Amino acid sequence: MQIYLDNAATTPLDPEVVEAMLPILQSQFGNPSSIHSIGRIARTEIEKARKLIANLVGCSTSEIFFTSGGTEANNMAIRSSIEDFKIQHAITSPTEHHAVLHTLEELAAHGKIKLSLVSVDEKGRIDLEHLETLLRDNSRSLVSLMHANNEIGTIISLHEVGDIVKKYDGIFHSDTVQTMGHYPFKLSETPIDFVNCAAHKFHGPKGVGFIYINAKNKISPFITGGAQERNMRGGTENIYGIVGLAKAMEIAHRNMSEQAYDVGSLKDYMIAQLQEHIHGVLFNGDISKDSLYTVLNVSFPENEINEMLLFNLDINGIAASGGSACSSGSEIGSHVLRAIHADGKRANVRFSFSKYNTKDDINFTVSKLKEIYHITEKASI
Ligand SMILES: Cc1ncc(COP(=O)(O)O)c(C=O)c1O
Repeated sequence: MQIYLDNAATTPLDPEVVEAMLPILQSQFGNPSSIHSIGRIARTEIEKARKLIANLVGCSTSEIFFTSGGTEANNMAIRSSIEDFKIQHAITSPTEHHAVLHTLEELAAHGKIKLSLVSVDEKGRIDLEHLETLLRDNSRSLVSLMHANNEIGTIISLHEVGDIVKKYDGIFHSDTVQTMGHYPFKLSETPIDFVNCAAHKFHGPKGVGFIYINAKNKISPFITGGAQERNMRGGTENIYGIVGLAKAMEIAHRNMSEQAYDVGSLKDYMIAQLQEHIHGVLFNGDISKDSLYTVLNVSFPENEINEMLLFNLDINGIAASGGSACSSGSEIGSHVLRAIHADGKRANVRFSFSKYNTKDDINFTVSKLKEIYHITEKASI
């Protein structure tokens, strides 16, 4: 039995996505920049995909640019806006994905910007008053705050943060990799400049995604080269991936709220099962109704078994991911868990869910956890 509970890392392809990509892989080999009919067919597929995506996320087709995924889009938004808008100060949080954090830290280390970190509380929630103070002291800042945290599931309101940023004439970028394909967006009505998407987080292919650039912003390309993507991203387009991305978006939006309810119910069920069967279990980050319904970060009490916990889960056929708060020795640990002061002596494991998970998967996982911790009924670990 194989149980995959690491869907925040990546998700399996939806068979419908494979079906949509196959004919392109098999016969649409044209270069979209070629002017002959074989090239024009490839171009049509890309523009069809762009239109579908723009409609689904509520923006204009001219605001969507295909990229190799979330990391490239984050780099593009951050590096190009800092360069082109002559931004001297950026604000981010200590719980961002490394694609944002390392990019901004590098720019700060090279003296290109001054970087401020906004405070977060023990659940990873942004201190909005602190954000406002930072903006008041540095108007026209770039603010990069992720929509949902990939490790602990804490979510920000794009509207609330966007309104604050705009009050101080700032540029607002949000890494939306964990929410695109999982939540509805209406970008034309959101006070935001840049968001991004990675297809592999919602049953699409790896190595493809997009950046949304609000039409108000004119930035130069991050990858220079050919005139692809209306001169905004050099390199022959990943047509197979782009078709797969569009299909994955279409499927995700077909019954998004039912799916969110079902997957969210699995998360709630796992919380209840763990609380019932594993004494002293805690949860890192936000587990409220407002949190990311696909992610549950569990903190198991101190135990000598903890060091081997992920390995033990793996040999029992359960794939989950670790994020220790520890920063000693060779283990660097999770910067997110350290930022929220999670207890490094406990075992912190992220379980993340998708539409392919079932209640049986949760029951099996909890029963294996009981075995691993040698829990007999009512005995604690
Ligand atoms: C929040 C967040 N941002 C960015 C990325 C990177 O996306 P990609 O793998 O498409 O480069 C990930 C994926 O791990 C993520 O979870």
